[in-house]
Amino acid sequence: MSIIKNDFEKMHITKIKNAKNNKKLTMITAYDALFAKLFEEIADMILVGDSLNMSFAGQKDTLSATLDQMIYHTKAVCTGAPRAFVVFDMPFGTYINKDEALRNAIKVYNSTNAAAIKIEGGEDRAHIVKHLTSNSIAVMGHIGLMPQYVRSEGGYKVRGKSQEDIQQLIKDAKAIEEAGAFVLVVEGVKKEAAQKITQAVSIPVIGIGAGNVTDGQVLVWSDMLGFFEEFKPKFVRHYLNGAKLVKEAVNQYRNDVQEKSFPSKDEEY
Ligand code: KIV
Repeated sequence: MSIIKNDFEKMHITKIKNAKNNKKLTMITAYDALFAKLFEEIADMILVGDSLNMSFAGQKDTLSATLDQMIYHTKAVCTGAPRAFVVFDMPFGTYINKDEALRNAIKVYNSTNAAAIKIEGGEDRAHIVKHLTSNSIAVMGHIGLMPQYVRSEGGYKVRGKSQEDIQQLIKDAKAIEEAGAFVLVVEGVKKEAAQKITQAVSIPVIGIGAGNVTDGQVLVWSDMLGFFEEFKPKFVRHYLNGAKLVKEAVNQYRNDVQEKSFPSKDEEY
């Protein structure tokens, strides 16, 4: 299959906003320079998601990710993919009020080349988004199932199952748009809810576990490439069986070492 590169010189907010009703946007997470470089010219946006706390740091949820940890990974991603539109996922506890949020967002802008930050929350956090956007920070919103609320909500719960909840999600989406966010992630919602949210706002809506009705999709790279074996959410498609391929390759390496067929004559000095 030939690889079609994305069409950006350098992606920027206006191009992302203009994609609404024109082109489906593709976002993928990356946590290091190596993979970011592979994704740079294919995906429209790279998200340094706090999901790295689970797949890379092995934790049970995202809540213990720290600002410094996220900055470390974002620097690596921006170094590996200098032309990419990189979004920094603000970790839990770093935007508990508007002043703290702005102080931490400025630290992110000062220490990385991230083009934008992402924060979770709807109407309850709109005032924080407003404060950030009023101070020249580009904000990606995130509503629906919000992993940083896992303990306060008592688990990961699919949203938009009732008309009442759909109306709340629409209110959340509109509040985040009015606060100045340029794009909105909608996670873990019924397709009907995702469709109504997408129609209700004029900024692009990027879905994950939200059906094919949004303006684009995001997936966690280690999920979609089949490296994360702990569990497979229903909405994830494995485009590669990464874990199996890696294990087979390492097994082959061990066998070659044991049989002394590695290194060969060609592989020695
Ligand atoms: O942390 C993350 O990777 C995310 C995506 C799932 C949207 O927030």
